[in-house]
Amino acid sequence: MNARETAIQAYLKRFSELPRYVARAPGRVNLLGEHVDYNDGFVLPAAIDRATYVAFSPASTDLSTLVAADFSEEAQFTPETLPGKVQPDDSLLPEWALYPAGVAWSLGAADLSTPAMQAAFSSDIPRGSGLSSSASIELAFGVAWSTLGGWILPPMQLALLGQKAENRYVGVNCGIMDQFASACGELERLLLLDCRSLEYRSLPLPEDTLIVVADTSVRRKLSSGGYNERRAACEEAVRLLSKDLPGIKALRDVSVESFNRLSYQLPSLVEKRARHIVEEIERTRQAIPLLEQGQTRAFGQLMNACHTSLRDYYEVSTPELDTMVEIAQDLPGCLGARLTGAGFGGCTVNLVVGDRAGAFARSLGPEYERRTGLHPEIYICQASRGAGLL
Ligand code: GLA
Repeated sequence: MNARETAIQAYLKRFSELPRYVARAPGRVNLLGEHVDYNDGFVLPAAIDRATYVAFSPASTDLSTLVAADFSEEAQFTPETLPGKVQPDDSLLPEWALYPAGVAWSLGAADLSTPAMQAAFSSDIPRGSGLSSSASIELAFGVAWSTLGGWILPPMQLALLGQKAENRYVGVNCGIMDQFASACGELERLLLLDCRSLEYRSLPLPEDTLIVVADTSVRRKLSSGGYNERRAACEEAVRLLSKDLPGIKALRDVSVESFNRLSYQLPSLVEKRARHIVEEIERTRQAIPLLEQGQTRAFGQLMNACHTSLRDYYEVSTPELDTMVEIAQDLPGCLGARLTGAGFGGCTVNLVVGDRAGAFARSLGPEYERRTGLHPEIYICQASRGAGLL
């Protein structure tokens, strides 16, 4: 049974009727620009053909009842219990419920109507795999509440309210990339977002290539501190560099040349973290004309360089991610391979020559399994459209 069917069946089982609506919001894969969204840089994600589905109807009281079909669990809240993150019986909301509840909270804080709902949801994005399962839950529920509340927001605004839910309610200091990609995805296109101005446009996928996602099967927990620590190191670098570069607001404002001149002043860990960001923003700047001119080999080299930098400077890779990337980079047809998303586990993204992608995927999995003893999942992924009602 696919995730959409699972959500509908779970709804039917719990509420003894069919849901009135189904909302869908996709996960994302990021090709380049990693950890730069919260440094005002540029990112190049695509929404993918894996998504969260929410089957829902309005509730008759002010009590929202949500069923997480994938864990066979249920949670409830009312407008009164929401701010305290508790259920009407005073028990804490389970962790998974913080995402939809956080969205209800942030929409409410923006004066958008969030009528109570009964809902069941399911996702085929593996949790903690670096493919933005959290953002997809936020956006799917954002669409659900917009449907019941009878209001419409531009997708970017809905994305910002999803991010606010995650920052302020769930407590993960994420940037805007994931919610943006889930909200604004386009079929068969890459997205290019300027995370400072929030202006974006789409680009065709590099010609004659396919995106292959390789899941190491090692899961991470984003709220576990490593992410927020990296973000704090970037802020510290801005604070220290601003003595010589007055007026800088983010690492986006620091050129590679200025950084090389001034970096000796930074504590070594802060220097490494900031070096990744400054150089990664430069890589994304170089990538745009390469993509526009169809120079996919050169673009792939930037992806490879990004992985090395995430491994050595930002230190968010793992031995499993490194192994997956190493194997991939040696396989015929691989243009570029790197970890995607926050790191600390999860998936790699591979840009592969179109007619080599099948053979690539068939070789990568068994070789990874041979070296690590872990069972990976490898799949060719399609860029998909953003969140909406089905
Ligand atoms: C997570 C966050 C994003 C972004 C990436 C790293 O996915 O949610 O905002 O920072 O990590 O690029």
